Amino acid sequence: MLERGSGEVDNAVVTSSPRVGGRPDPTSGTTASGEESAPARGYLLDNARAEAGERFVRLAELFDGVTRGHVDRLGVGAGSRCWEVGAGGRSVPEALAAAVGPTGYVLATDIDPAWLGAGDGYEVRRHDVAADPPPEPGTFDLVHARLVLVHVPDRARALATMAAALRPGGWLLVEDADTALQPLACLDDSGPAQRRANRLRDAVRELLARRGADLRFGRTLPRALREAGLVDVAAAGCFPVGGPACDRLEAATIRHVRGELLAAGLTDDAEIDAHLAAIDAGLLDLTLAPLISAWGRRPAPTERPGPQLR
Ligand SMILES: C[S@@+](CC[C@H](N)C(=O)[O-])C[C@H]1O[C@@H](n2cnc3c(N)ncnc32)[C@H](O)[C@@H]1O
Repeated sequence: MLERGSGEVDNAVVTSSPRVGGRPDPTSGTTASGEESAPARGYLLDNARAEAGERFVRLAELFDGVTRGHVDRLGVGAGSRCWEVGAGGRSVPEALAAAVGPTGYVLATDIDPAWLGAGDGYEVRRHDVAADPPPEPGTFDLVHARLVLVHVPDRARALATMAAALRPGGWLLVEDADTALQPLACLDDSGPAQRRANRLRDAVRELLARRGADLRFGRTLPRALREAGLVDVAAAGCFPVGGPACDRLEAATIRHVRGELLAAGLTDDAEIDAHLAAIDAGLLDLTLAPLISAWGRRPAPTERPGPQLR
C-alpha cells in the first residue's frame, strides 16, 4: 500500500529514504502529516492530502493494465529509457523499471513527488512539466503521462516539453480523461441515490473547470500530438463501468474535495454523507469518464519533422 514520504525533496534527485510513518488514514480529511491542508490554487486533487494515496491505488487498479498494454506495444523493454510525468504513485514507475531492467533507466517526476518514495529501481525528481525544461532532452524511448495534462493550464507547453525529451524514434504516450464525453457517475440513473451521485459528479467537474482543467481534453489528444510535431499518431479509449475500485476512487475523491465543494456552495454535508453511505452500501455501480490514450513518435532526422520539432 502506498505511503507518503516526508515530502521535502528539492528540484534535484531524491537522495534520502522517505520517512515512513505508517499509512495515512484516507478517511481523516487531513494531510498525511495530520494537519489541515491549505486550499490549493492550482491542481485540485493535490498530493498533500492523505486521500491522494488512496486515489493512486485505485487508479492503478483501474488503469495500469491499459497503460501497460500500450507501453508493451510501443516496444518498451530491456534497456529502454522512460520518463514518467506526473507519476503520482509508485505503480507505473515500478512497472516500467521492471520492464527496462538493470540496463534501462526510469525517471519519475511530479510537482509533488512525496508518494513516490525514494524510487525502487527508478529515479525521482520534483518537476513541473508546464514550467521546467525537459530533463535530458532528446534521450528517452518513452515519455508517458496519465491523467496529468488535463489539470495543467499550459498543456501545449507541457506537450512540447515531453516531445523534446524524446530521442528521434521515441514514443510519447499521453492518457487523459474526457469528462465531457461521458459525464455521468451512474450510467444507470435508476433512483435518488444514483441521481445524487450524478449531481455530485457535476459539482466536482465544476470545481475542476474553475481550476482550469479542460473537461474535453481527451478528445483533442491526437491533434495535440500532431501539433507537437509527432508522427504515426493514433489513439484509443476505455472506461470501467462499476466495481469496487470505482467505488473506492469515488469515495476518496469526494472526501478529498469535500471542503471545496462546501465552500463553493455546490452541495451540503447531508448530500455528501448520503452519497458516501450509498457508496459503502454498494448501491451505485459507479463509472468514470473515458480514458483516452494517444501515442505518437518523434520523427527521425531523415523524416519530415512535425511543426514543433523543426
Ligand atoms: C490524477 S493524478 C494521476 C497520477 C498518476 N499519473 C496516475 O495516473 O495514477 C495527477 C498527478 O499529476 C501531478 N501533476 C499535476 N500538475 C503537474 C505538473 N504541472 N507537473 C507535473 N506533475 C503534475 C499531480 O501532483 C498528481 O500526482
